[in-house]
Amino acid sequence: MDDPKFLVYGVLAVIALATFRKALRDPKVDTIPIVGSSGLLSSYRDALGFLANAPTLIQRGYDEHHGHQGVFRVARLFRWEYVVCGPKLVKEAGAAPEHVLSFRAGVQEVLPLRLVIGAAISDNPYHHHTIRTSFTRNLHACFPEVRDEIICAFNDVLQVQGSDWKTLPVLPTMMAVVARVSNRIFVGLPLCRNKTYLQNNVQFTLDVVRSGQRIALFPAFFRPLVARLITSKNKSFATAVKLLGPTIEDRLSKEREMGPDWPEKPNDFVSWLLETAEGEERTVPALVLRILSTNFAAIHTSSMAFTHALFDLVTHPEYLRPMRQEVELVVKEEGWSKAALNSMVKVDSFLRESQRLNNGGASVMHRKVVAKEGFRFSDGTILPHGALMYVASRATHYDEANFDQPTKFDGFRFAQERAEHMANHDRDPLASQDIFKRQMISTAVDHLPFGTGKHACPGRFFAATELKAMLAHLVVNYDIKAEVEGVRPPDAVFGDRIAPNPTGKVCFRKRMD
Ligand code: HEM
Ligand SMILES: *[C@@H]1O[C@H](CO)[C@@H](O)[C@H](O)[C@H]1NC(C)=O
Ligand SMILES: *[C@@H]1O[C@H](CO)[C@@H](O)[C@H](O)[C@H]1NC(C)=O
Repeated sequence: MDDPKFLVYGVLAVIALATFRKALRDPKVDTIPIVGSSGLLSSYRDALGFLANAPTLIQRGYDEHHGHQGVFRVARLFRWEYVVCGPKLVKEAGAAPEHVLSFRAGVQEVLPLRLVIGAAISDNPYHHHTIRTSFTRNLHACFPEVRDEIICAFNDVLQVQGSDWKTLPVLPTMMAVVARVSNRIFVGLPLCRNKTYLQNNVQFTLDVVRSGQRIALFPAFFRPLVARLITSKNKSFATAVKLLGPTIEDRLSKEREMGPDWPEKPNDFVSWLLETAEGEERTVPALVLRILSTNFAAIHTSSMAFTHALFDLVTHPEYLRPMRQEVELVVKEEGWSKAALNSMVKVDSFLRESQRLNNGGASVMHRKVVAKEGFRFSDGTILPHGALMYVASRATHYDEANFDQPTKFDGFRFAQERAEHMANHDRDPLASQDIFKRQMISTAVDHLPFGTGKHACPGRFFAATELKAMLAHLVVNYDIKAEVEGVRPPDAVFGDRIAPNPTGKVCFRKRMD
């Protein structure tokens, strides 16, 4: 019991029960159906159980209520949380403005970024705009660098030689590749290949996620204290300043000397940030923190998505050859370019399908009701001020109303849909517009890996470019198989988050035919 954490958890349990009791009796939400028990102790048990079986509980709520439409609530340790289902309400949630349903406040509830990264990042998220605009616009121009880094990173990180199978843990391996490829565009050469710099970014990401998830279990007034006990962000921040600081300093001083458009200015994320950054934000520590937190948003999500895709590929090996053929054909005609990726319809479909079945968890689009009068959905449900809501993404993706045989991995389902739309094009020119709706980058009320609406992930254009180019490279250069034939390493579940197995392995060798 010397460990202060135990004391914290003990005190917490008592406070929790008291807070919970108060929160349970909120007459304003009486009409919103409950999933699970409604008595005091039994709900408290459910709330504890939520940590272990949240995805099952949310699925049950989705199945039981309103024919997959509407809002239900689940008991958490300190409050009710509200789960939104059905296309109409998801659309309303995605369209609500920040001063009504707050994205920023919602993020703080599930991952207290103010505490684990820093207040400036959440209070002034100007880099989101940079990602949405300059970054996305430059994907064509930067593609040769992305491609070059993918080739080098696969060689260096996988170290697969000759005809022998080599077994590698997928998540750490792909995290190393993604970190390198992303940083080629974030900060450029040579830093994007510096092992200390890369490891530090990965470490920062893991620290933020791990400590953030733990801190989020506590009520708001307790969190700063817990944050002190368990975060190590200061260490990785100091390392980042040491390694990245000189590069930033150099850019700032060149701008001071020669103005914002100095000759040979690199076309990378640091330069794009400097086009918008103002005042305090134009300092080394502030810019380092921006880059670190962009690494955080990019690396974890993209490497998890790619890991899932590889687990899917080795459990459904019949998809390897058709994708290999597609990539070879496209590259023969168009070369390796961003535009060529658009023609890789099967690769795109495969990744989209993998994301459909394995998005990051049971929920997405966390929003806090910040309007004093609450938020009213068109079905009459009113969420009170201060409520936390989210969308039942996994249940939506597994709904028969949305997808044929929804639990089946059908790697080319979206490619087929696109082909059908193309075939109908002659008869109905308007139908051709629909083909864009089934690409990896397209969000929809029934396809939520990137959220949908106002805050849909601005990094998804880069993520799709990067992951498609990685998968295309992999299928034409490597053979790949499951460590144990037919076995997909089981997912890791924490609360309502679902991640690919962190130690799951697959086997690679250089392509044989
Ligand atoms: C497969 C990879 C990725 C997935 C699955 C993913 C998923 C998401 C999701 C679910 C959201 C929240 C949407 C919402 O609440 O409505 C989000 C937001 C965000 N993502 Fe991504 N993301 C990925 C890659 C990236 C990359 C590569 C970057 C940066 C280059 C990025 C930057 C961001 C940012 C800045 C936000 C906040 C958006 C805002 O405030 O409006 N993401 N992402
Ligand atoms: C990474 O960069 C730092 C600072 O430039 C340098 O001191 C260090 O030797 C580099 N490390 C590697 C592994 O290249
Ligand atoms: C981290 O650094 C900040 C100041 O930059 C300080 O206030 C905080 O206490 C430090 N946290 C830890 C855990 O050392």
